Amino acid sequence: MQTIARDTGRHQLGFQPLEQEHQIDSLAIEGELPRWLSGSLLRTGPSKWDLGAQRLNHWFDGLAMLHRFSIRDGEVSYGNRFLRGKAFRAAEQTGRLGFQEFASDPCRSLFRRLATLFVTPEITDNGAVNITRLGEQYMAMTESPMPVVFDPQTLQTLNVQAPRPGTLPTAHPHRDPASGALIGYTTKLGARSKYQLFTQAPGRPARILASIGVGEPAYMHSFALTERHAVLVAGPLVVKPIELALRRGGLIESFHWKADRATQIYVLDRHTGERVANLDTDALFCFHHVNAFERDGEIVMDLIGYDDPGVIDRFYWDAIDAESRKGAPPTVRRYRLPLDGRRDVAVEQLSDHAIEMPRINYARCNGSAYRYAYGIGDGPSNGWDSVPIVKLDVDGGGADVWAQDGAYPGEPIFVAAPESPREDSGALLSIVLDAERCSSYLLVLDAETMQERARAHVPHHIPFGVHGEFYDDPPEVEQQ
Ligand code: CO
Repeated sequence: MQTIARDTGRHQLGFQPLEQEHQIDSLAIEGELPRWLSGSLLRTGPSKWDLGAQRLNHWFDGLAMLHRFSIRDGEVSYGNRFLRGKAFRAAEQTGRLGFQEFASDPCRSLFRRLATLFVTPEITDNGAVNITRLGEQYMAMTESPMPVVFDPQTLQTLNVQAPRPGTLPTAHPHRDPASGALIGYTTKLGARSKYQLFTQAPGRPARILASIGVGEPAYMHSFALTERHAVLVAGPLVVKPIELALRRGGLIESFHWKADRATQIYVLDRHTGERVANLDTDALFCFHHVNAFERDGEIVMDLIGYDDPGVIDRFYWDAIDAESRKGAPPTVRRYRLPLDGRRDVAVEQLSDHAIEMPRINYARCNGSAYRYAYGIGDGPSNGWDSVPIVKLDVDGGGADVWAQDGAYPGEPIFVAAPESPREDSGALLSIVLDAERCSSYLLVLDAETMQERARAHVPHHIPFGVHGEFYDDPPEVEQQ
């Protein structure tokens, strides 16, 4: 979009667009892939910000591109494609946004802005945030009721509807490993706004489990799930729904930070939807929960917390260009939530490492006691000098780090080794920007030792992505 000035950081290449689509059968590999590692890493993220007649304001808002690394028999193939949903098509046809994005405004009429609150077709489907699977459907999501279903092998966008309830459903649903059902929350905006907990089984419409009325809903991005409970953490970044309708700007620009208000914590029975506890704690901004579990009559809930939502402002283009470090850094925090009627919420910081994009051994540990979290160092907090991959021992607070000069990794995704004896027996997969070579590679670390096993080079750079998922079996082409 813009040329990189000589004096800006080398990481800036990660914010440059990628518009060309590639299919590469075999990438050059250094090192040796674990023999057991077989499957596909699917990732999404923003990839294009200059639409022709409009330049988007914020990194999050770029048109979504999917990336696939498939590992089979010691070889790695790669493909990338734009997600061609209605948001992409509108931008392609007009050179402008067709829908309101997180921090960019399509300059719609008042009528269309009002309709956003009530009419799903008026809400974006630019799935640049996360990927999930419901039955045999692979979906790219943003905080929208319309995830976009795609073919996991060709990355082609499929014309299949899989609607989710409300106005702002989370792009981080949990997945029940036994049933394959998703469980998530949504915020329904309107004259009577509510948070709703819902579940969605393959091939079935979503079912609402609980509704909580709220006057000024909070911006939430993810939530915690234990064996028995779902926990919503609603910090004081809140919106008056009518303002969202009347005001121009991106979605988040109608939300206001009320630092003197408490963060509301709702503990719900994840099966019946019954409200188990209403708790509160100090003002907190959070994108990502790490994990939560129950112990001794309380819920232990770990998340990446900020003292203010300044992190959002760091990713406007002018702040990216200026390499802004404004806003509170992230900290890994443990909250202890009593379930016996007491109201005192205890909080402690688990580590000195400022990490984001946390992942765990999800299949084994989500909702139960665990020891290891993996994440990347927060770029702005580190002055973008380097971005490490961090393995955190949440019990002892110790950490192991992988870092290399000029290497800017994305979210590290844990893949368990078969019949693994230990929680950390497996691999960590991360797409790394190599600033020296001006290209990216798939990095494979041994999660137990944090030593590098292999890297598979892509000939071009891959813009910094958001989230993704690894699927064990190389996905088959879906029949339509
Ligand atoms: Co996220």
